[in-house]
Parts: sequence; structure tokens; C-alpha cells
Amino acid sequence: MIELQAIGKSYQDKVVLKDINLKIQTGEFICLVGPSGSGKTTLLKMLNRLVEPSRGKILLDNRPLEDQSVQQLRLNTGYVLQEVALFPHMTVFENIALMLELKKIPRGQWRALVKDWLLKVDLNPELLERYPSELSGGQQQRVGIVRALITKPKVILMDEPFSALDPLNRRQLQALIKRLQVKYQLTIVFVTHDMAEAKLLADRLALIYEGRLLQFGPVAELLAQPKNSLVTQFLQGGKAID
Ligand SMILES: Nc1ncnc2c1ncn2[C@@H]1O[C@H](COP(=O)(O)OP(=O)(O)O)[C@@H](O)[C@H]1O
Ligand SMILES: [Mg+2]
Repeated sequence: MIELQAIGKSYQDKVVLKDINLKIQTGEFICLVGPSGSGKTTLLKMLNRLVEPSRGKILLDNRPLEDQSVQQLRLNTGYVLQEVALFPHMTVFENIALMLELKKIPRGQWRALVKDWLLKVDLNPELLERYPSELSGGQQQRVGIVRALITKPKVILMDEPFSALDPLNRRQLQALIKRLQVKYQLTIVFVTHDMAEAKLLADRLALIYEGRLLQFGPVAELLAQPKNSLVTQFLQGGKAID
């Protein structure tokens, strides 16, 4: 379980996040949705301590994040970005095996494990020896997903992972990540500015606007009991979220 208590973030005199309270249960798919610049990435990066809060506290399984070693935390956290950031000079296998080495999985298991995971994300295991530049954008993002999931991290953080993909690949990867999340009961915190994507994926949706949490809940609840008209506008796509 992840608990954010009265989280705030300022850069100099600029307030970026204000009084965010949020409890994420294990096995939940949470989407942080809001316009560009609303503070989603900043909030997400606090969960693996790429950014430290200015105020408030974050608990992971009831332990303050600041008491846990950053190295241990990062090992237990999968991270997927819009730019896949595979190492260009390493093959698909080497890119993924890196994570297995960090997690001290015995070397003898690597090849079978990686092949198995490539199949899980609908990639041909023949791609194992290819370099990232020899893959399409969709294939690269699938490798990025394998790299983030293969060590079974406690939490997976995803920051607009599909926004650079064409519509067909985006739809396929949305279905894929939802399928894997349900199958393995993964805890995913997923940032998007695309309300349709958030509605499709999220168990619960956190609406972020100008650094504040407008409302947090399942889509149906937000629709039925919006806290204010902004929530309704966002959900109905009446207000441009970009
Ligand atoms: N390191 C930083 N220094 C100063 N301002 C920052 C920094 N990181 C983010 N910001 C500002 O914080 C706000 C929220 O940014 P971000 O979390 O990236 O938003 P989002 O991901 O929702 O687009 C923006 O106004 C951005 O310019
Ligand atoms: Mg962002």
C-alpha cells in the first residue's frame, strides 16, 4: 500500500503540488490524470524518490519512504517512460537481463525467463538479439514493459508511456498492460493527460489540476458524485485537458 499524506512541492516560490492525500491499495491500477503542467510527473517521481517532497510524507507498506534505501526502493519499482530509454548499444536480451542481474536472479534462468516474457507481450523471441534501433516504436515500448515487469516489482510507475505511439499500437498496449495488471495483480500508477485512456485503464482515477487533487475515485463514482463542475468537465472531455 502507498499512502501520500499532505504532500506538497515547491520550487523556489512556485508551488507545484499542494496538500495531496492519496491511498493506493496493492493490486490497484491508478491513473493520475490532468492537463500538462498540473504536477503529475512530479508526483509520480516522488514514489521512487527521483523528487523529494517539500512537505508531507509518503508511506510504502506503512514505512516512510525516506527510511528506505533509494537503491532498494528503485529495485522494487518498475519505471516506464514515454521515451523508452533502452540502451542503444545493447541487444533486447542484454537490456532486459540487466534488470535480472540487479535483482541477482541466477544467470542460468535468464534466457528462458526473457523469452517467456517476450511472448507475454506478444513479441517474437527471435527479437532477442536485435538492437533497439532495429525495432519499431511499439516493439521498443513492449521491451520497456518487459524490463519494468520481469523482476516483479512491488509498484510500477508509468509516465505517459503510450503517448508517442500510433493509435493502433496505443490501443494494443493499453489492452496488454491492463491484461498483465489483472493477471499478476500488479500495482500500477499511470500518468496520462488522455481522459479516454484513464477511463479505460484505471480502477481509480486521481484528477490533478494546478497541483491539487480535484477528486480520487472510480470513474463511475466521479461521474455520479463530482465534487465540482471542473470534475464533470474533465470527465466528459468538455474542457480540453491538454
Ligand atoms: N525541477 C523543476 N524546477 C522547477 N520547476 C519544475 C521542476 N519540475 C517541474 N517543474 C514545474 O512544475 C510544474 C508541474 O510539472 P510536471 O509535474 O512535469 O507536470 P505534468 O507532468 O503534469 O505535465 C510545471 O509548471 C513545471 O514547470
Ligand atoms: Mg509529465
